[in-house]
Amino acid sequence: MKDWSPTSWQSRKATQQPTYPDQAALDDVVAQLSRLPPLVTSWEIETLKSQLAEAARGNRFLLQGGDCAENFAECESPIIAAKLKILLQMSLVLVHGTRKRVIRVGRFAGQYAKPRSQENETRDGVSLPSYRGDIVNDIEFTESSRIPDPQRLLRGYERAALTINFIRALIDGGFADLHHPEYWDLDFVQHSPRAHEFQQIVESIGDSLRFMETLAGQPVGEINRVDFYASHEGLHLLYEQAQIRAVPRREGCYNLSSHYPWIGLRTSDPDGAHVELFRGIRNPIALKIGPPTTRDQLLKLLDILHPDDEPGRLTLVHRYGVHEIASHLPEHLEAVKESGKTVLWCCDPMHGNTETTSTGVKTRKFEHILAEIEQAFEIHRDAGTYLGGVHFELTGENVTECTGGARGLNEDDLARSYKTQVDPRLNYEQSLEMAMLVARRVGEMNGAR
Ligand code: PEP
Ligand code: CO
Repeated sequence: MKDWSPTSWQSRKATQQPTYPDQAALDDVVAQLSRLPPLVTSWEIETLKSQLAEAARGNRFLLQGGDCAENFAECESPIIAAKLKILLQMSLVLVHGTRKRVIRVGRFAGQYAKPRSQENETRDGVSLPSYRGDIVNDIEFTESSRIPDPQRLLRGYERAALTINFIRALIDGGFADLHHPEYWDLDFVQHSPRAHEFQQIVESIGDSLRFMETLAGQPVGEINRVDFYASHEGLHLLYEQAQIRAVPRREGCYNLSSHYPWIGLRTSDPDGAHVELFRGIRNPIALKIGPPTTRDQLLKLLDILHPDDEPGRLTLVHRYGVHEIASHLPEHLEAVKESGKTVLWCCDPMHGNTETTSTGVKTRKFEHILAEIEQAFEIHRDAGTYLGGVHFELTGENVTECTGGARGLNEDDLARSYKTQVDPRLNYEQSLEMAMLVARRVGEMNGAR
């Protein structure tokens, strides 16, 4: 890669980076991180890239989801298992509705760094560094908690390793066997307003599987196990840099901290450090685009990040908000057409739909999230492009952070179980319901139903 190295970003403007008081301590941690073994491998990354290429061509569908931010305290088995369960259930519903294979990608095993709009947070006249995610500092509003601590980079890396290790072990142990989707039931699935519909989908998938196996006279191998891939926002540049490695018998460098990192909207400046770092890695990458992204910027980003039009390399995750999508998405679709390149289009209906209640609680409305997705499908259809994925902030737990959905959560319910430290997530029931509605919509678009 011309004029690129894992550190070439250092000569560019790097936004959203913490200021560490002790440079020597930071250097020491980065040196340690650079020697630790990787979390993922280049062959997994290449497999994912080829699956994303199929999705870009219209033959697969991407489901990406997880917490806005993971935190260190929640690196616990029930929480991780619940996240896998909800993603599995949603993917099952999507396979059923879309008649396509679904690529499952978690926002996990490294989703620890958050972009912030303000450097500092002020409370009662006291100003401290903003919370930037557990990999940087602690959310508690005290000076010692908020000062960025480089040791947290190591803690984060280790927790990411624990998370991915547990996920791999669960999958290898048959947790995700499609013959037994009933194993993935979460306690409250029976009480969900959509339980019956889900049960029918599960039964119908079980029936088809048995039918295929009867025809084939043997178990349908590939279907026995499913894969999960890890993704996170590639925000903390030193953390990412430390895992950029050359691997034997392959060309170029891979970011081995995650299969599929993405560039956040706030750090998508074509001349900035993040784009420079991502330019040189061989991973499939995603780029968030939104209302501030201009047509020229997008064309420039396509040039820099997707110069060879390599299949599966680039996903564009659009996030405008229900009121903005119609005035931006068509222009972005045009720009990509003009470039002549193929990308995978994915809709993030979460980040443009965040609002604050009259009592100051950050929330999102289920109807707005759904309505943005519905508009996205229509706009893509009219433009002749394929919307090949969805990106959600969700949790397998029974939280109350977003309003709406079949259970009709309202603003008064938010206080009951509001846990997120950053953005509001769809809870278990809302996620499953969303998958059902999206699946139905894709099915209609495909004429499959
Ligand atoms: C996120 O995905 O949590 C995020 C910060 O998104 P965006 O960059 O699209 O605002
Ligand atoms: Co978020």
